[in-house]
Amino acid sequence: MAPAPLLPSVMVVLLLSLLSVPATTQIPSKEVAACKEHGLCLHRTPRVTAAPPVNVTLYYEALCMGCRGFLVRDLFPTWLLVLEILNVTLVPYGNAVEHSVNGTWVFKCQHGERECMLNKMEACVLDQLEQNAAFMTIVCLEELEDMEKNLAPCLQLYAPDVSVDSIMACTSGARGTQLLHHNAQLTDALQPPHEYVPWVLVNGKPLKEQSQLLSLVCQLYQGQEKPDVCPSEGSTTREVCFR
Ligand SMILES: *[C@@H]1O[C@H](CO)[C@@H](O)[C@H](O)[C@H]1NC(C)=O
Ligand SMILES: *[C@@H]1O[C@H](CO)[C@@H](O)[C@H](O)[C@H]1NC(C)=O
Ligand SMILES: *[C@@H]1O[C@H](CO)[C@@H](O)[C@H](O)[C@H]1NC(C)=O
Repeated sequence: MAPAPLLPSVMVVLLLSLLSVPATTQIPSKEVAACKEHGLCLHRTPRVTAAPPVNVTLYYEALCMGCRGFLVRDLFPTWLLVLEILNVTLVPYGNAVEHSVNGTWVFKCQHGERECMLNKMEACVLDQLEQNAAFMTIVCLEELEDMEKNLAPCLQLYAPDVSVDSIMACTSGARGTQLLHHNAQLTDALQPPHEYVPWVLVNGKPLKEQSQLLSLVCQLYQGQEKPDVCPSEGSTTREVCFR
């Protein structure tokens, strides 16, 4: 039996259409040209005192439900709210293992062959697309069932200039193997080693409370001016509305 989708499809469609609306107002023409070219317009508000973004790295595997839940319900909403202070890196590989057979890398994935193929497919998306477009494409794939079938519509939304064929050629070829091997090395080098997936690092440290991602990112960001959704410094009291 196929597991239920993570979000009601109406909501997915809403999210997707929301994201694909190009913000054309008040953007200098050069940027408009750039975002037309990439089929995606995300306008980063320039910060007065730009501090380095907070690094969030997700080690995951394509078919693990916990990973999909974290990506769709925690990381993606956080990213939508504070993308201007985040640097998100995805490392698809997770609890897989690899060994070398006659000089080529062979992978064994927790959820079987298909997961290895999907991990490679997502590694190829990360390799061929611009960072934000790759992130949204992978969220789009992971929130729906049948990721292979959804590659075409998800690419169409976020990277219409990248063909399904070029991603699939990478997935089944030497490049896909090379990319997954690189992710294996990144994952195996984790210190401390990952105990489970999703394994999340925030500025290099494991995140234990996954629901606390947004508040932790707000807290770690060193910029003077934090995004509006971040609680203001030192204020522990919340505004209330008396009746
Ligand atoms: C974002 O993360 C990537 C990969 O971890 C890293 O190479 C890059 O330097 C980071 N960018 C910034 C601005 O910190
Ligand atoms: C490795 O290569 C040798 C020689 O070409 C071959 O006999 C052997 O079956 C190969 N092993 C595997 C696991 O493919
Ligand atoms: C983010 O990662 C990059 C690359 O590893 C590093 O240079 C940078 O200092 C990190 N940023 C923070 C805020 O730790």
